[in-house]
Amino acid sequence: MNESFYPSVEYYVKFIDQEADRLFPKDQGIVCDAMKYSLENGGKRIRPMLTLEFCRICSGDHKKALPFALAVEMIHTYSLIHDDLPCMDDDDIRRGKPSCHKKFGEEYALLAGDGLLTEAFKVAVTSDDLTDAQKSKAVSLISEYAGYRGMIGGQMFDLQNEGRTVSLDRLKSTCALKTGAMIKLACQLGCIAANADEVYEKAAVEFAENIGLGFQIVDDILDVTSSTDELGKPVGSDEENQKCTYVSVLGLEKAQKYADELTEKAKKALDVFGGSADFLLKLADSLLNRKK
Ligand code: IPE
Ligand code: IPE
Ligand code: MG
Ligand code: MG
Ligand code: MG
Repeated sequence: MNESFYPSVEYYVKFIDQEADRLFPKDQGIVCDAMKYSLENGGKRIRPMLTLEFCRICSGDHKKALPFALAVEMIHTYSLIHDDLPCMDDDDIRRGKPSCHKKFGEEYALLAGDGLLTEAFKVAVTSDDLTDAQKSKAVSLISEYAGYRGMIGGQMFDLQNEGRTVSLDRLKSTCALKTGAMIKLACQLGCIAANADEVYEKAAVEFAENIGLGFQIVDDILDVTSSTDELGKPVGSDEENQKCTYVSVLGLEKAQKYADELTEKAKKALDVFGGSADFLLKLADSLLNRKK
C-alpha cells in the first residue's frame, strides 16, 4: 500500500471533478455539451470515491482505479438524467441547476444519457494500467449491475410501485436494484482494480449492500425533511409521484432506525480491513447523517 497517501473526501472529490472535466471536449455538438453539463454538475461523487478507496484499502494504487471510477460516475449521471425526464420522475432541478432536459430539451437529454452510458465502457477499458482480464471482468459487471438485472430493473420496479403500497420485500429489492446495484458496482470495481483477494471483495459486497439500501432510505427521508435549496433537487417529488418509499411504508422514524441499523451492519463488514477502513467508516456515518 502507498503509505504516504491519506485519503480525504476533499482530495477524492477534487481528483474526480478534475478528471471528469477533462473527459469531453468543447464544440462537439449539443449532445456532448449536455453530457458535459450533467457530469460536471457538482454531484457528491460517492460512487467513484468508493471505487478509489476500495482499490486503496485492497492494497492497490487508487489512481489505477480511475477509469472504473469515472465509468461508474458517468453511468450514475446518465441514470439521473433519465430519472428526471417527464416520463420518469419529472424533476426540473438536479445538483442545484436545471435538469438536463430543462437546459437542453428532452430529446437531447435522452441522447446525453445514452451517450454517457456508451462512453462509460470506452473510458473503463482505455487504460494501460489495468490488464485485459481486469477490464473484461469490469465490463461484465458494469453491464450486469447497470442493466436490466440491476439499476434499470430497479427503476422499472420503482415505476410499477407508483400509487401502491408494496411489501417490504418488494421495496427492498426495488431499492437494492435501483440504487444498491450501482453502489455495489462501485465498490467491487475498486477491488477488481486492486486484484483483491476474494475475502476482501466479499466484505466490499456486504458493505455495499447495506450502505446502498441505507443510502436510498436517507434519500427518501431527505425528500420529505429537506429543502430544495439544500438538496439541490426538488423535495416532495416522491409524494407528488405517489412513489412507494421507505418513508411512505414505514414512516420517518422507523425508516431512520432502519438506515441506522444498515449503516452499523455495513461498518461491521469492514472488520477484515482493520485500521485501513477508517475513511470508509467515517464515510458511512457521513452518508447516514448527510443533508444532501
Ligand atoms: C441520487 O444519488 C440518486 C440516488 C440513487 C438516491 P446521489 O445522492 O449520489 O446524487 P449525486 O451524484 O450526489 O448528485
Ligand atoms: C433514483 O432514485 C435512483 C436512480 C437510479 C437514478 P430517486 O428517483 O429517488 O433519485 P432522486 O431522488 O431523483 O435523486
Ligand atoms: Mg426515481
Ligand atoms: Mg428521482
Ligand atoms: Mg429520491
